[in-house]
Order: sequence, then C-alpha cells, then structure tokens
Amino acid sequence: MIWLILLAAIVFVIVVLGIIDVVQTRHSIRRNFPIVGRLRYQLERIGPELRQYIVTDNDEERPFSRDQRRWVYATAKRENQYFGFGTDNKLEDPQYPIFRHAAFPYERPRAETSGRRDSSDQPPSTSSSSHFSSNTNSGADDRGDSVVPSAKILGEWRDRPAAFRPDSVVGISAMSFGSLSAPAIEALNRGAAMAGCLHNTGEGGVSAHHRHGGDLVMQLGTGYFGARTSDGGFDLSKLVSLVADCRIRAIEIKLSQGAKPGLGGVLPGAKVTPEIAAARGVPVGITVSSPSRHSAFDSVPSMIDFVERVADGCGVPVGIKSAVGDRSFWVELADEMQSTGRGPDFITIDGGEGGTGAAPLVFSDNVALPFRSGFAEVFRTFAERNMHDKVTWIGAGKLGFPGDGLVAMALGVDMINVGREAMLAIGCIQAQKCHTSHCPTGVATHSRWLTRGLDPTDKSVRVAHYIMSLRQELLQLSHACGAPHPSLVSGASVDLLLGGDSMESIWDHYGYEPGWLTRPPAAADELEKLMG
Ligand SMILES: Cc1cc2nc3c(=O)[nH]c(=O)nc-3n(C[C@H](O)[C@H](O)[C@H](O)COP(=O)(O)O)c2cc1C
Repeated sequence: MIWLILLAAIVFVIVVLGIIDVVQTRHSIRRNFPIVGRLRYQLERIGPELRQYIVTDNDEERPFSRDQRRWVYATAKRENQYFGFGTDNKLEDPQYPIFRHAAFPYERPRAETSGRRDSSDQPPSTSSSSHFSSNTNSGADDRGDSVVPSAKILGEWRDRPAAFRPDSVVGISAMSFGSLSAPAIEALNRGAAMAGCLHNTGEGGVSAHHRHGGDLVMQLGTGYFGARTSDGGFDLSKLVSLVADCRIRAIEIKLSQGAKPGLGGVLPGAKVTPEIAAARGVPVGITVSSPSRHSAFDSVPSMIDFVERVADGCGVPVGIKSAVGDRSFWVELADEMQSTGRGPDFITIDGGEGGTGAAPLVFSDNVALPFRSGFAEVFRTFAERNMHDKVTWIGAGKLGFPGDGLVAMALGVDMINVGREAMLAIGCIQAQKCHTSHCPTGVATHSRWLTRGLDPTDKSVRVAHYIMSLRQELLQLSHACGAPHPSLVSGASVDLLLGGDSMESIWDHYGYEPGWLTRPPAAADELEKLMG
C-alpha cells in the first residue's frame, strides 16, 4: 500500500511539474519538452565539472564556443556576465587579437555621466526581472550607458531625402520570416524597438511579425519578395508602397551571403503558407525559387543604376550586401563610384563564417573569404581610391561579441550586424537544426508545437538586453583604449599575436595606411559630443 501511495505521489509531482512547464513562458525548452527539458538545466549545471575531465573545453565548440554562448545568455537575461579566474583562451592561437589599453583610459566628463547606470566595476544585477515593462516597445529611457550611435550618417554622400544617423552601431542581421518562426521575428522586432536598433527583414519580405515597432532595413534578394511581379521580376511601385506603409528606413540589395554565396534557393510549395505567401507576394502552396543572380541588373554599372532607381523611388538610403569572392567586382565598383559619384549608401560585408537557414556544406565551409580578410580587402580597395568615407560599412560574421566587434570597427566597420547571436538571445541552443523544421526552441521552425514554446514578449526583452550589453561593452573597451566612441579606436590599439613573441598591429597586418581611418580632430570632437 505504501508503495502505491509513494508511486501516486511521484506521478502527481511529475504531472504538476509537467503542467508548470507547459504553462510557463520563460523557457522554450521546458515548454516544448515538459519534464525532460528540466534535465538540460541539471546537465548544464554539472557540465563544467564533467568537461574538465572528459569532453571539450570552453572554447572548442563551433560555431559559437560555450563561453560565447554563456556571455550572450547571461547578457540577455541580465544575469552576471562576468567570468572568474582569468582567461582560459589559448593566447598563442593564430591572429589572436589584443587591445592595447591606454595608460589613462577615456573617462566621460562628469556632467555627462551623471544619471547613467554605472558601467564600470560591478557585474549587472543578478535579478532576472527585466528593467523593461514587458508590454512596452519603448526602451529609450532604459538604454543608459549603452547608447552608441553610428559615426556616419546613412545616405549622406548621395544626399538621400531620408538620410539618417542610425541610433545604434549594432543591428539585427538579415534573417527572413520563413527561415525563422513568427514568434522569433516578432521577438526580434520588438527587441529592436526597445534597443533602438535596426532590424533587417532578410529576403523573405515584410510580414505582420515585422510590424511591432522596430525600424526595418528591407532586404531585396534575387526573388524580390515583397516587391515582385507575377513572373518573379522587380516591381518598384510595390516597393514604394511598402516603404510608405511600414517602418522601412533603408533598403539592402542582397548579392550574396557568406554561408552560401553564388547559390540560389528554393522554397518548396508545402512551406508556402498563407502568411509566408502574403509577406513574399507569391501564391500559396506553389514552389518559389530565388535565382543565384539578379534579373534586374547584370553588371556593376547596371547595378549602380538599379541602386539609384530604388533610392530615387523610395527616398531612403540603399545599400548592397555581399560576401567577398572575386576581387575584380570590388575594384570595378570602387572605380565606377569614384568616376560617376553614384552608388550604394552602405555596403554590408558578410564573412564566409556567417550563418544560414540551410546550405550545402561545401558552400558554408569553402566559399567566400572569412570576415576579417574579406572586409579588409574591400576596404583597402575603396580607401586606395579615397572612397571609403563615402559609404557606411556594415560587417557581419560572428561579430556579436565585444572583442570581435571592436576589431571589426578598428578595421573600418561603422556598424555590426548580429544574426545567430540574436538567435541565441531569444533562446537558440545551437542545435544546428535550422534546415530540418525540428528546431527544439521554436526559433527556426514552423512546427506549431515547437513555436508555442517561444514567448515573443519575454524573448524581445532578452534580445534588447543582449544588444544593449554588446554596445555597452564595446564602449567600455573603447574607453579602455582611450577613445570616446568605438569608431575612434585606432588600429594601432589592436595587435594580432602571430605565434611566439611576434605580433603586428591590425592595420599593418592588413596593409592599411594610418591616414585612412584617422579622423580629423573636428570630426572626432563631433563624435565625442554625440556621445554626451
Ligand atoms: C537562419 C538564418 C537565416 C538567414 N537569412 C538570411 C537572409 O535572408 N538574407 C541574408 O542576407 N542573410 C541571411 N542570413 C545571414 C545573416 O544575416 C548573417 O549575415 C550571417 O549569419 C553572419 O552573421 P552572424 O555570424 O552574426 O550570424 C541568415 C542567417 C541565418 C542563421
């Protein structure tokens, strides 16, 4: 009898815990996998001890190491994001970056810092409660020390009517509704509104989930989804109406992305749901394909004509996104922009290490240069023609960490886009199942069961926290290097360790001339004032 009572009690506890798991909204894994999901936290808790002896260390996992993921999760939840006992990185790894801190770090003038959150000594609050009310879209008053606007005005060079200075040097990278779920897109858009950053739609058009207050960069891929004729061509009038209808601040024409450059894509009819069809402007249930190249242009001059046509029609800044392959394209683009005075307002360079929803392994592994070498090659090409200051440079490819982000900025990047890091912030556990529809956290799947685990209200706050923390640490790092803004950190402050005792500044390593990125004192003063 006693055994029966005991058994009944255990079953009762399990059922109650299961119900709690299903009903709660904070943890997608527990919501989707009641009871079993709890094991994850127990295993995570004893993971470090186990790994000390039998598995991998904190920096071995790819694409994102455990340390990197832990930092994103901690910042997103406003938990203690500090690490103890000193570095466990291998400083002898090739091209390991080191920032040369200033003997006298930059300190904000007292009057300007008063009233801001203290960012210097203490880890953030370990309280899990958010400082955003969960149903607001405005986090402006809460951004405090994490406000870091772009050093450049987007669209200034070509004098676009809707040129603007982005409020945030960090933005959310292109990831379509389709590759990401509806609640994931909603969480990112709400989070972008709270953090005051731009949210790139990806090439799948603007869906209802992109309309929660976050400013958008509308991406136009080769399928022209959202601005497309019935036979798959480009329709400017549709794009103009879309820009008038939602918060599109800029348009990005996608040539390629780092994880699958030179490759088209197919969306099978079964995945073309009414919602996806509406966002893309295609018929429900019919397979649609994105070709590997654009039909609206086929050369550098005709691409520039297209950029100008879109900008004239829509009024907003227009840029291009590409991974770096054939160098002659960039030489021709820089030459053409120099000789005609026309061209894109911004250039987004995606590293070969970038992510995707689905791609053949060889394209992810072996096509396109990694971010640093690819970006430096393009930047040099423009700087040699004195064209580098005309455009806003945006970088992507595992740059969503303060160190990697600042290295990119010291190479000339004005803004950083974060893709998978933003996914981590909304609950992704790097299961690497984006291509299977079985993403366990509901981020990259359309399974009703799995997406119901992702609460967009809760996760929007997390992604906002992550983005603000990234900006805040970029700023702290800049201050440590003696600069008031990340764009003022000199390449002379960043060394790459090259093995043994040898090291080199990144500007020397990538063949930069010191004058290219040295801002005149007036411009530096203006930027310092902007930070006030
Ligand atoms: C699920 C997923 C979907 C993506 N979709 C697009 C897309 O529609 N257009 C695009 O240009 N890049 C796309 N990307 C690439 C990202 O925008 C970004 O350039 C790349 O992942 C590098 O940034 P990260 O290392 O911060 O993720 C996608 C990436 C992921 C992970």
